[in-house]
Amino acid sequence: AHKMIIAIDGYSSCGKSTLAKELAARLGYNYIDSGAMYRAITLYFLRNAIDLGDHNEVLDALSQISLSFVFNEHRNASDIYLNDENAEPFIRDMIVSEKVSEVAAIREVRSFAVAQQKRMGRKKSIVMDGRDIGTAVFPDAELKLFMTADPEVRVIRRFKELYATNPNITLEEVRDNLQLRDHIDSTREESPLRRADDAVILDNSNLSREEQLKLVLEMVKDRT
Ligand code: C5P
Repeated sequence: AHKMIIAIDGYSSCGKSTLAKELAARLGYNYIDSGAMYRAITLYFLRNAIDLGDHNEVLDALSQISLSFVFNEHRNASDIYLNDENAEPFIRDMIVSEKVSEVAAIREVRSFAVAQQKRMGRKKSIVMDGRDIGTAVFPDAELKLFMTADPEVRVIRRFKELYATNPNITLEEVRDNLQLRDHIDSTREESPLRRADDAVILDNSNLSREEQLKLVLEMVKDRT
């Protein structure tokens, strides 16, 4: 069958990765979480106290980073490895979430991540989610989705996810972080979050997971 790329972009906590994972499983494609790459880079920068304003320090740090995805059967998804360490247990921590948008706005960081993302789409059919997949990484993707959801619905979804491992988290904290990331992500100079002209808008505030999956599988069928 002919190769297919599905690009899913949108605001934070819109359910992009949930949908992307289910689509990939159903279609037998690889799922790639591009946000995990920016998060792993941020984790490295935090651990090594990289000065984000120092161009050479940033470039040098990037040259020390190797990222890879390894499928984890228990999760039925891939874990991201940062220089041979499974970084998955750390990359969703609040300390990373608070810094990631600042790191992802740096031009050198984006070219580093985007080059690798483009390579991953070369051979296999994939579903990739992020902020600039349909606009910058795969402008020729066969199917592009732009996901949105009511902001408070998103806050509550993310809160529930985080609360499972961190009972000290507050709604306020989660709300502030989502607002801050969406603001930085959509106003940065380097490939800001925006809907590609040919992306289909999917507002899932009132759609179940099954309903979303069914809708998108129809779109995939129309395009193959
Ligand atoms: O998708 P997730 O919320 O894990 O992404 C974390 C952050 O990584 C986003 O808030 C954004 O700053 C950055 N990101 C990006 N471009 C992508 C994916 C993520 O700038 N394609």
